Amino acid sequence: MKFDILTLFPEMFEGPFSDSIIKNARDNGIIDINLTDIRDYTTDKHNTADDYPYGGGAGMVLKVDPIYYALEDITDNFKKKSTNILLTPRGEKLDQNMVKDLSNKDRLVLICGHYEGVDERIRENFVDLEVSIGDYVLTGGEIPAMVIVDAVARMLPGVLGHDDSKKNDSFYNGILDYPHYTRPSEFKGMEVPKVLLSGDHQRVAKWRKKQALKRTYLMRPDLLKKTKLSETQKELLREIKEELEGVIDNE
Ligand code: ADE
Repeated sequence: MKFDILTLFPEMFEGPFSDSIIKNARDNGIIDINLTDIRDYTTDKHNTADDYPYGGGAGMVLKVDPIYYALEDITDNFKKKSTNILLTPRGEKLDQNMVKDLSNKDRLVLICGHYEGVDERIRENFVDLEVSIGDYVLTGGEIPAMVIVDAVARMLPGVLGHDDSKKNDSFYNGILDYPHYTRPSEFKGMEVPKVLLSGDHQRVAKWRKKQALKRTYLMRPDLLKKTKLSETQKELLREIKEELEGVIDNE
């Protein structure tokens, strides 16, 4: 899968894309990340990428022409198909479902906005999707672009050591992940739940299912409203609610 990133700050990406899982995915040819410096496509002698907003007001706006020329170049005169994404706090909020959809595309072009925003003509004519990574404002679209590359790349076959591991991820099935423990089984009086040491795979699986539901119920009940639960999960959730009511009654 190919990612093209249009940015004024390509060097910001060096660290996050040169280590760990993303590095391996690049080295193994599963993903290809191409960084394009928008400033290389400016047309005046001062390499101006931004300008004052028409109509006045605070801040600067990224100019339409350098982004246009960059897009024209990387898409071979708009002949190569791609999904063009503008990172902006105004966009559709990124979630695991969107990540899954994006992981089915062949090529994503991520346009990193900066300053007050990007000339609206880019959005109107060249953008398929506007994406926000949350309801807060960052200094630019670079970190959101990194977030998208990271989240999408790990969905691709062969990127994680175990392709199964993502099936237990929080959000993958609409609920949060279960708690994890590793050795030692006891540390300064803090113990690992006994069931995990029992070697009984069925009991472990049931415990994990229940813990995942319990966490979701306590921390993100909004997710449960959107998720279709299996009969087993519904039964476990009833148990959880009863147990929690018992705790409250005893208080
Ligand atoms: N640019 C600035 N803030 C952003 C956000 N929250 N999501 C995406 N792009 C942004």
